[in-house]
Parts: sequence; structure tokens; C-alpha cells
Amino acid sequence: MIGIIGAMQVEIAGLKDKMEIKETKQIAGISFYSGTIHGVDCVLACCSPGKVNAAVCTQCMILEYHPSLVINSGVAGGIGEGVHMGDLVVAESVVQHDMDTSALGDPKGYVSGPDITYFPASAPVVEAILKAAVPIYAGGTHQGIIATGDQFIGSNQKLMEIRNDFGAICCEMEGGSIGHTCYLNQVPFAVIRTISDNGNDDAATDFMQFAKDAAEKSTRLLYDILPALEIGIRS
Ligand code: ADE
Repeated sequence: MIGIIGAMQVEIAGLKDKMEIKETKQIAGISFYSGTIHGVDCVLACCSPGKVNAAVCTQCMILEYHPSLVINSGVAGGIGEGVHMGDLVVAESVVQHDMDTSALGDPKGYVSGPDITYFPASAPVVEAILKAAVPIYAGGTHQGIIATGDQFIGSNQKLMEIRNDFGAICCEMEGGSIGHTCYLNQVPFAVIRTISDNGNDDAATDFMQFAKDAAEKSTRLLYDILPALEIGIRS
């Protein structure tokens, strides 16, 4: 079974519409839809924005459904050079830009316990997604670091800080905590994000205008790739 998480309804709507829903369960106030999408056994949930919402959703999903892969799909602010609105970013790893014990001598983003800063996404899944993305995104695909925090980034100063501190090419609010939770549970994960804004002074206006189209682009890609991902997981 593949687990799919979006933070906003618009980030799961395209898949929910196409899902043959066999069962819906409420856990921790979150609706988990299980059934098939494009013939693949899936569980789908909308976690609501932010790291705690995303972590609770991921942990509940793992304990209840035991997915062999968790995919976070949605939109993000593009902060990397050459990363444009409408482009795809696939995480090679995720980092939490607001996790900061650097005053104690740790690197920014470092998470004690698992003892790691950058949580690696499943490399074969990343590769398969990037390959499948070509017809939808033409040349606008990128692989890199996604930075997550409990903050909507909407200023040039903050986006430069995140880019410089972490080498991130996009910012959002859930991928890092979904990756963190999957890592703790030894479940492979992937994060795919379509750029809805550039995290700059225009970000809020752009987000309002473009988030829906961007989210739908991510879900279209995910729909296309699901059968190949399932075969990859089985083999
Ligand atoms: N999701 C989409 N755009 C974002 C931004 N600028 N900051 C954080 N999360 C986002």
C-alpha cells in the first residue's frame, strides 16, 4: 500500500476524485481514505498545514495502514536559482529550517535523537518520479533539498536565509516532518512539490492565485506514476 499525504484539500482533491474509496477512518481528527487509485492500493489523507499536523498524520497512517512508501504531494515556494512557478521539485532530502540548536554548537536544522539534519528521500522513487514528470513539466523539473518550517515564507530576506543556510531550492510546511516521521519508522518517503510562488514579497498574492493549479499538477503526476511505483516497491 502507498500512503499519500497533502496538507490542503486542494492538494489531495485530484486524487480523491479518482479514488475508488473502500473505507474512510477518522483518526486524530484526520480522514484517512483507503482504496485504489489508478489500480494501486493507497491510503490518502489531508493533514492540514504545519509540521505537527503532518507528523501526527504520518504516524497515524504508518501505524494503521503500514504503507511501504509515503508520498507527500503539494505546492511550495521556489527559492532556488532557476526554479520557476509551475516547475516541479522532487526532494532528494528534506530539512527543517526552523529546527535550530546552533546556539549549542549544532548545525542549523540538526535533529538530535535520530542525529541527522537532512532526511534522505527514497532515491529510486525520486528517479522514477523525475522520469515520469517530463511530459507534464517539460524542462521544469528539479531535484534538491526541500526546507520545511512552520512559516509561510514571503520575504526576500527570509528566502535568501533559507537558501544560504540549507542549500534548499524550495520551501514548504510539511515535507520535513513527514520525512522525519518516516525516517523514525524506517518507511521510505518522497516529497513532490509544484511551485506556486517564489517565497518573496509577492508570495502571498501568487500563492492565492496559483496554488490550485500547482497542486493539481502535482496530483496529475502522482496519478500517472502510481502503477510504476507499486511495481518498483514489489520488486
Ligand atoms: N507553500 C507554498 N508556498 C509556500 C511558501 N512561500 N512558504 C511556505 N510554504 C509554502
